[in-house]
Amino acid sequence: MSEPLNILIIGDVLGKAGRRALRDHLPHLIDEHQIDFCVANGENLAAGFGTTLKTADELFSIGVDVLTNGNHCWDQKSFLKDIEEDDRFVRPANFSAHAPGSGWTIQESRMGHKVAVINLIGQVFMNTWDCPFAAVDKIMLEMPDDVQAIVVDLHAETTSEKMGMGWHLDGRVSMVYGTHTHVPTCDEVIHSGGTAYQTDIGMTGSYNSIIGMKKEGALHRMVTRLPQRFEAVERGGTIFATKVSINPQNRQATDIQRICIRPSS
Ligand SMILES: [Fe+2]
Ligand SMILES: [Fe+2]
Repeated sequence: MSEPLNILIIGDVLGKAGRRALRDHLPHLIDEHQIDFCVANGENLAAGFGTTLKTADELFSIGVDVLTNGNHCWDQKSFLKDIEEDDRFVRPANFSAHAPGSGWTIQESRMGHKVAVINLIGQVFMNTWDCPFAAVDKIMLEMPDDVQAIVVDLHAETTSEKMGMGWHLDGRVSMVYGTHTHVPTCDEVIHSGGTAYQTDIGMTGSYNSIIGMKKEGALHRMVTRLPQRFEAVERGGTIFATKVSINPQNRQATDIQRICIRPSS
């Protein structure tokens, strides 16, 4: 077998705490793990709410190759335009047909491999979207034969919907993984058909929080049921990421490994 294609998957990167942690550790992680390509979810980059060009550029400049998105995609109105300017941005493919941007992209890795990234969003306990299963089946019909790895970010609330997608795509893509819950799961596996799977990669951001937001405000809202502004925690980011190794000749995963870097203080 030729050298494996190593892809680093990073989940929801939350605000300054997440961006700082990546700035401090990502270049070194890329070297240490011989990472050829890196994907992160950018829906919470801008203080928890959406993506801006400035926050995206911070990640692109340190080695992130593609930014997927989720239900916070349009929190920053400027992103409605910005997403059309750069094909390293993708948003869920099963958004309305009126949504700007694309649901998938093909980019070249550092070693020259062609990597496809597909973004989907779940339907259970979320807003109303088109069917993610039908959306990905349609994309797969258009997928060029010379693509050497395909990774799928299903941004969804429930574990069962994500597991369903993992089996739906087994043998057809290199990896299916979940984002959105901001909590990592330890169920990484390679299915019988060769597709790597993990229910949720977890947030890269502060875990001294409630899914990245200051505890006090979030708790006040839960306890009193009164409106309260959410504020992102800006320091102490933990990185949760997953490295998947892929045979570029058949797109199948050969190894999957979770990586965690906690703040030093
Ligand atoms: Fe998120
Ligand atoms: Fe989300």
